[in-house]
Amino acid sequence: MLNYNRSRNQSRAGMDYLESRRKQHFLGKILMAAFLTAVCIFILKQSPRFSETSAFSQHELGVSHVLVTGGAGYIGSHASLRLLKDSYRVTIVDNLSRGNIGAVKVLQKLFPEPGRLQFIFADLGDTKAVDRIFSQNAFDAVMHFAAVAYVGESTLEPLRYYHNITANTLVILEAMDKHSVKTLIYSSTCATYGEPKKMPITEGTPQVPINPYGKAKKMAEDIILDFTKTTDMAVMILRYFNVIGSDPEGRLGEAPRPELREQGRISGACFDAARGIISGLKVRGTDYPTHDGTCIRDYIDVTDLVDAHVKALDKAQPKKVGIYNVGTGKGRSVKEFVEACKKATGIDIKVDYLERRPGDYAEVFSDPSKIHRELNWSAKHADLEESLKVAWRWQKLHRNGYGSS
Ligand SMILES: NC(=O)c1ccc[n+]([C@@H]2O[C@H](COP(=O)([O-])OP(=O)(O)OC[C@H]3O[C@@H](n4cnc5c(N)ncnc54)[C@H](O)[C@@H]3O)[C@@H](O)[C@H]2O)c1
Repeated sequence: MLNYNRSRNQSRAGMDYLESRRKQHFLGKILMAAFLTAVCIFILKQSPRFSETSAFSQHELGVSHVLVTGGAGYIGSHASLRLLKDSYRVTIVDNLSRGNIGAVKVLQKLFPEPGRLQFIFADLGDTKAVDRIFSQNAFDAVMHFAAVAYVGESTLEPLRYYHNITANTLVILEAMDKHSVKTLIYSSTCATYGEPKKMPITEGTPQVPINPYGKAKKMAEDIILDFTKTTDMAVMILRYFNVIGSDPEGRLGEAPRPELREQGRISGACFDAARGIISGLKVRGTDYPTHDGTCIRDYIDVTDLVDAHVKALDKAQPKKVGIYNVGTGKGRSVKEFVEACKKATGIDIKVDYLERRPGDYAEVFSDPSKIHRELNWSAKHADLEESLKVAWRWQKLHRNGYGSS
């Protein structure tokens, strides 16, 4: 009996010992995990990415944080450069479907300091991703550039245009509403006017778009206008005319995807012809009722255009919507454009004059007096040849766009 009790006591003592060893071991593990977590947090806090994230996620007195959608594209990258130069904090969101990561890299090199610029790869059609971006970042304003933007393509793929332009603008507005971001600068277009009979086009000219691109933008404008009636948002809608040129200091340029060449704009086609990528220029229509028979357009330099955005941002007021044409107010014929391009490049580009292309209207140019009056903006780079010279300089140094700078 005695022996039995003793051995029972002994085995209990052994178990107690084992139990206490196990507890000590467990405690050690917890302490080690806590130590490792603390080390990880310390290391993360030291890394520039961590400080960048926190800077972007908090409002800071005196610093305005602008979300630039489509900031890897032609106009969005130039706008981001200007905003960064003006000390704004910039977040670019782009799905790189049309833009260039090379343009973002140029900006990142120019503004490497933490809290200045971040790039987020995302598709604006992804509602959850957009919501996450808005919940993780403290935006003060949105410049919404992201869009597919070719008239011809829009007639072939209308649903893509309504989805990308109209539906995605709705996604942005819903996110702005949910996360209380109160200022929107919207990229619209003279294509929303369609074929007005009377020139120049004022903001009061009836909007009767004639292709899915113009219609999708007009619908997006209408959604924005309806929404602003119920909120205290500050909205500026800018209707651009034909955008040309590039950064005068040669840091950025226009580099559409080679597969979009066919859809492309006249400046791109001129440069491609000057470089021999295409055999020459095809000018469609020489019997329009204009002074030389070719179509007339209003060409606005991208440097002036982004200046209009900054002025619009500066003057945006709660509960108010400003709608402005952004053009030079001067129409130039296609023939004049081609002559300016020949002079700017120094190359005698071959030109073929062909029949009219269906759907092209004879004459489009803006009346920019409202934006001059209300935002004190006017085009400063209205010399076509000079704008093309600047753009050509970048094109010559970047034969494959941002791919081989
Ligand atoms: N270029 C012009 O002459 C002109 C004239 C009038 C209006 N606009 C408007 O200006 C804006 C910018 O045009 P651009 O010439 O710089 O075009 P762009 O193609 O160079 O840039 C558009 C950018 O938006 C991005 N994007 C497109 N869909 C997206 C999506 N679903 N999610 C995220 N990113 C997306 C593209 O990748 C690209 O970087 C567009 O809204 C366009 O309609 C342009």
